[in-house]
Amino acid sequence: MSTSTTPPAGAWSGRFAEPVSEIVKRYTASIPFDYRLAEFDIQGSLAHAAMLHHVGVLSKGDLEAIRRGMAELLAEIRTGKFVWSLDREDVHLNIEAALTAKIGDAGKRLHTGRSRNDQVATDVRLYLRDAIDRISTGLRACQSALVDLAEAHTDTVMPGFTHLQVAQPVTFGHHLLAYFEMLARDAERMADCRRRVNRLPLGAAALAGTSYPIDRQFVARELGFEAVCENSLDAVSDRDFAIEFTAAAALVMTHLSRLSEELILWMSPRFGFIDLADRFCTGSSIMPQKKNPDVPELVRGKTGRVNGHLVALLTLMKGQPLAYNKDNQEDKEPLFDTVDTLTDTLAIYADLLTGVTVKREAMRVAVMQGYATATDLADYLVKKGVPFRDAHEVVARTVRAAEAAGRDLAELPLTELQAFSPVIADDVHAVLTLEGSLAARDHLGGTAPAQVRAAIARARARL
Ligand code: ARG
Repeated sequence: MSTSTTPPAGAWSGRFAEPVSEIVKRYTASIPFDYRLAEFDIQGSLAHAAMLHHVGVLSKGDLEAIRRGMAELLAEIRTGKFVWSLDREDVHLNIEAALTAKIGDAGKRLHTGRSRNDQVATDVRLYLRDAIDRISTGLRACQSALVDLAEAHTDTVMPGFTHLQVAQPVTFGHHLLAYFEMLARDAERMADCRRRVNRLPLGAAALAGTSYPIDRQFVARELGFEAVCENSLDAVSDRDFAIEFTAAAALVMTHLSRLSEELILWMSPRFGFIDLADRFCTGSSIMPQKKNPDVPELVRGKTGRVNGHLVALLTLMKGQPLAYNKDNQEDKEPLFDTVDTLTDTLAIYADLLTGVTVKREAMRVAVMQGYATATDLADYLVKKGVPFRDAHEVVARTVRAAEAAGRDLAELPLTELQAFSPVIADDVHAVLTLEGSLAARDHLGGTAPAQVRAAIARARARL
């Protein structure tokens, strides 16, 4: 963005005996960041002007001049020729002043029946609606990358963990689909939030409405809003829609942060379950052997900043009396940064997932080391009539003995197993294998490869 200092815009200067100091000007201006709303500001202004003409407040000639002037400004903004001025405080005053410089009095008539308070609330909603649509596309891309990877690993066995201790065998495909579900709920949250973002504040004017015979439904239709904010005080002052979005964004980041933590662990040689493509990793300036998972680490780190933005917005809102207060100008930087961070994270993540190499053998070795089929042995005993609590105790003692002997349960000969329970027969080894354990969990939501394949088919249909 290029800025310059130009003579005061004079939007309210007649009221004041002296200009603001340089530092106050910088402190109160939002143009260094809200210039990003420019295209939405123009959209909103064009809809407002069309409505003013529709209700007979603005002449056809003025409307045409406004349209022509705004088209020129839009081209200047898009090509980077527009010079933003700190003296004009924010994006709204910059555009209005530049319009008036181009078309004269018609530009001065644009603000009839409107305030920057309902104008900025409209701009932010238009911006966020657009952002949510891009983010929803990004979420779908990540979900589809997860399904692709899961499909290649419906039979790949890995240790499922609780407390980060080996718990039971699961398939890697099943594990990945857990994240698909998280992102699916995130997408639902975004779609739901969009409905409340997509309501029109314009017409609330400064706070109380306006004395002109405005047609708010007309403006809502022009801008594609599905409803009109019902109360003027609420329309200009609440930013709950931005808070709600940031909360949904923080959850997306939190989900991706969890997956990142797993990728980082899995890539550590102590696990050695996966490798990440080189394009997502960096080396060390001192240790020549290093390949560091920087991208997942940064996703985990950036989750902190999005969580911080959520707290910033909640705190910004909590003490504000009705209606508009300048505090609300502080909503933009956290919101913009949340959108930018999430958009980039989703774009990178979809690609990152295509660059995951899975080391099946290492996963299999790891799951063999943690007595992951102990629950299967207990279930086996229960099916032979042993009460579950007794079966649990029998298996606990068996695991202890196996551990002392340095062997897996499946490696214990039948006679040794029978020493722990006489009901154990030669069909026991089928349930102690990893494949037997996986296949047994054959119900909706279970880890059996057949269930994972069915879940993948449903996931694809949901996309
Ligand atoms: N730049 C302001 C904002 O972001 C626009 C609204 C200013 N309204 C006012 N009454 N000062 O909130």
